[in-house]
Amino acid sequence: MKVLVIGGGGREHAIVDALSRSPQVEKIYCAPGNAGIARQAECVAIRETEVERLRDFAAAEGIALTVVGPEVALAAGVVDCFKAAGLRIFGPTKAAARIESSKEFAKELMAKYDIPTAGFRAFTEYAAARDYVAGRSFPAVLKYDGLAAGKGVVIAQTMEEADAALKEMLLDDKFGEGKVVVEDYLEGPEFSLLCFVSGRRVWPMVLSQDHKRAFDGDQGPNTGGMGAYSPLPFITAEDERFAVERIMRPTAEAMVAEGCPFEGVLYGGLMKTAQGIKVIEFNARFGDPETEVVLPRLKSDIVEIFCAVADGGDARLEWDDRPALGIVLASKGYPGSYEKGHEIKGLENVEGTVYHMGTKADGDRIVTAGGRVLFVVGRGATLAEAREAALRDVARIGCDNLFHRTDIGHWALDEK
Ligand code: AMP
Ligand code: GLY
Repeated sequence: MKVLVIGGGGREHAIVDALSRSPQVEKIYCAPGNAGIARQAECVAIRETEVERLRDFAAAEGIALTVVGPEVALAAGVVDCFKAAGLRIFGPTKAAARIESSKEFAKELMAKYDIPTAGFRAFTEYAAARDYVAGRSFPAVLKYDGLAAGKGVVIAQTMEEADAALKEMLLDDKFGEGKVVVEDYLEGPEFSLLCFVSGRRVWPMVLSQDHKRAFDGDQGPNTGGMGAYSPLPFITAEDERFAVERIMRPTAEAMVAEGCPFEGVLYGGLMKTAQGIKVIEFNARFGDPETEVVLPRLKSDIVEIFCAVADGGDARLEWDDRPALGIVLASKGYPGSYEKGHEIKGLENVEGTVYHMGTKADGDRIVTAGGRVLFVVGRGATLAEAREAALRDVARIGCDNLFHRTDIGHWALDEK
């Protein structure tokens, strides 16, 4: 069959890579793709939010399956648009994707169905939010309600910080129409549980963990993620069972009960607190960079899973026991402003897998084209070996404008 992947980052490169291992796949297209994806798929110059153009392309090319990567495409209604045209697509409808796009929707759902999460209140008025926060302990957790590219969460240590954030979110309309969720502050290691979901049916993937801060030791600003690994030794089988049976499955059932059944990847951003495992957030799609360490461990044919979700069939997931650990190479300055167009050398010397996150071809050269540029995956018999393999490959890549973390996996590998 011909398949189309929507998106152009490391996550989509890992999806394309998994699809390329399927004997059922004859040709892969990716819109818009990037310079690395172009080696495994035909890139199509359509942006991920141009949903009608994507639909017309899929119809004209006889695409049998479309897989959606980024949340912006979901929020633009790409799944609704494809389904209305009778095209098979893997991903949630706009209504179901609210579990990510609206913090208030997600929090209300969890409260109604008794899914463990931080206590919360939602506010639209600045003065009411400020008074509420002023009467509580710090740190205060403030979340802008809507898609804010990972920048809508502020953990304020003082009232001054909280006030500045509330003003920005509710008075300045920096992000658009304002609503803020104020949450209880939780503590503990965070981890990601991605599940394939089709209505009530839930297929958990192997656990992974992202690293959100820019620098070693979890210092510096929050980013889209600087590295990830799988599996997670500090999460027990019992924790995992709890997360699936008390969180992910009831959430899938709640979405059905609410009349917006979920189809696609439901991503649980979870925290292991002293009071048990709780939801920090849900996403309605594959995580980035978690996908880049989870899918390399998938032994089953991913097309069968995508089709089982889209058509309501059955599938089995089998996983490789060997750990995967990946390191992001990001442009200097990221997540702030950064330069583009720096040449990347040495990619041909790498022994493991490199997923491209933000690259562009410039003649024969490959140049940087984003904040996060490359994702280097190491494999090994242990996580420690996987990290060594990834760091060895990172050293083989030459570019004068990239930086990376050297401590990915420290929750599992290094003493705290
Ligand atoms: P989110 O976008 O909801 O995942 O939040 C971004 C980050 O903020 C999370 O990965 C956590 O590190 C932190 N965070 C979010 N909610 C809470 C909370 N209730 N308590 C403590 N930290 C939180
Ligand atoms: N890794 C975090 C995310 O995909 O949202």
